[in-house]
Amino acid sequence: MLSGFFEITGGRSLKGAIKIQGAKNSALPILAATVLVDGEAELRNCPRLSDVDATVNILKHFGCRVSRQGHTLRVDSRGINDTPIPDRLMHEMRSSIIFLGAVLGRFGQAVLSAPGGCDIGLRPIDLHLDAMRAFGAQITESHGRICCTCAQGLRGTDITLAFPSVGATENIMLAAVTAAGKTTVCNAAREPEITDLADFLNTCGARITGAGSGEMVIEGVPALHGGQHAVIPDRIVAGSYLAAAAATGGEITVQNVNPSHLSTVLPVFRDAGCKIDVQAADISLRAPMRPRAVKYIRTMPYPGFPTDLQAPVSAFLCVAEGTSVISETIFENRYKHAAGLNRLGADIRVDGRTAIIEGVPRLTGAAVESPDLRGGFALVLAGLAAEGVTRVGGIRHVERGYEDICGALTSLGAAIVKIDGT
Ligand code: EPZ
Repeated sequence: MLSGFFEITGGRSLKGAIKIQGAKNSALPILAATVLVDGEAELRNCPRLSDVDATVNILKHFGCRVSRQGHTLRVDSRGINDTPIPDRLMHEMRSSIIFLGAVLGRFGQAVLSAPGGCDIGLRPIDLHLDAMRAFGAQITESHGRICCTCAQGLRGTDITLAFPSVGATENIMLAAVTAAGKTTVCNAAREPEITDLADFLNTCGARITGAGSGEMVIEGVPALHGGQHAVIPDRIVAGSYLAAAAATGGEITVQNVNPSHLSTVLPVFRDAGCKIDVQAADISLRAPMRPRAVKYIRTMPYPGFPTDLQAPVSAFLCVAEGTSVISETIFENRYKHAAGLNRLGADIRVDGRTAIIEGVPRLTGAAVESPDLRGGFALVLAGLAAEGVTRVGGIRHVERGYEDICGALTSLGAAIVKIDGT
């Protein structure tokens, strides 16, 4: 546990209310989009996360002037220049591929290092590259670097995605907004983060219709001007804390959320015996002493059950009464948290993309290591429910996506401290 760990004394029910952070997976593409803005963009409700910091470092590398006041970031991209992003910055986070469409649109060329795979799968980018070729870009790949050029400028085109990839949809939007002519996208991703990116771009003068519907039309405009935008709440962080309450017989309210973004998640908590109350921008959950198993959960593209909540929900089902079955249809290697959960006394069997969870009456504390971002949260959640002390290593994974997780959980009555490994 070199990189520091969380030390959790479990067995305490979570009680109280917390305000949910802005969405990481909305803030990142919106920040990349500021490369296209000939002016100043003001982004409110930007979470304080290492992935956001890594994205800001890449913007500064291009010469953007970036300042932060609390949860508001201001980015001025006037006068930026095109310089290849060094591997050091590209490797700080997986989703730096999201710069492809914006950099190509702004400079007519983009040199990125091929994003290595990551903790949850190979993470191919074929759909991204095929789409850039459809806009007229030439692409060469060698020595782990991807070189895209389009000297004559991107031209609007018609694209049908073989899979509603979130990142590919975002890169298509960013390439299309200042391309010459019209772009249509069929089978586009429908996640709320797509609609949020479209809202930001339209605020800056883009002409996007149909975001969130799966079919989008984007009329290219000569340039984008500055604008102001508030990032949507993080539906995955909200669902993660609700799962933590469900695992500890707790009663919490997550505030400043959009309940419609969790429309296929709340029924799972109800099936597990939790009482859910939805009020405007708040969701309250009161858990039974012990949750019921949920027969079958299948992760799907939005609006289906989100793959990012598979690990946190798997963790709370470890202490449910009965057998739950989960099918992970989006990523090929997203059960790496099962080993740690079993070390805490859970009974999970993984067979390919299916996990069978036999609920156990109690978990017992132990030392475990975060395998990835959402798996790390799952282990923290299990530690909250376990008897005794749990140490969760690899906190750098968790801090990529959960702002001040110790502060948030402590405010809900948890006994958790961060022990720095340095
Ligand atoms: C985004 O990743 C999110 N990341 C992920 O959240 C999320 O799990 C995922 O969407 C699905 O909702 C960000 O927004 C920064 P995809 P992305 O392209 O864009 C395959 C988290 O925990 N695929 O929709 O990479 C791919 O292998 C992270 O916050 C191709 O085959 O997801 C995967 O099986 C994890 N070729 C599936 O599509 C491609 O060119 C979904 O990927 C692209 C993707």
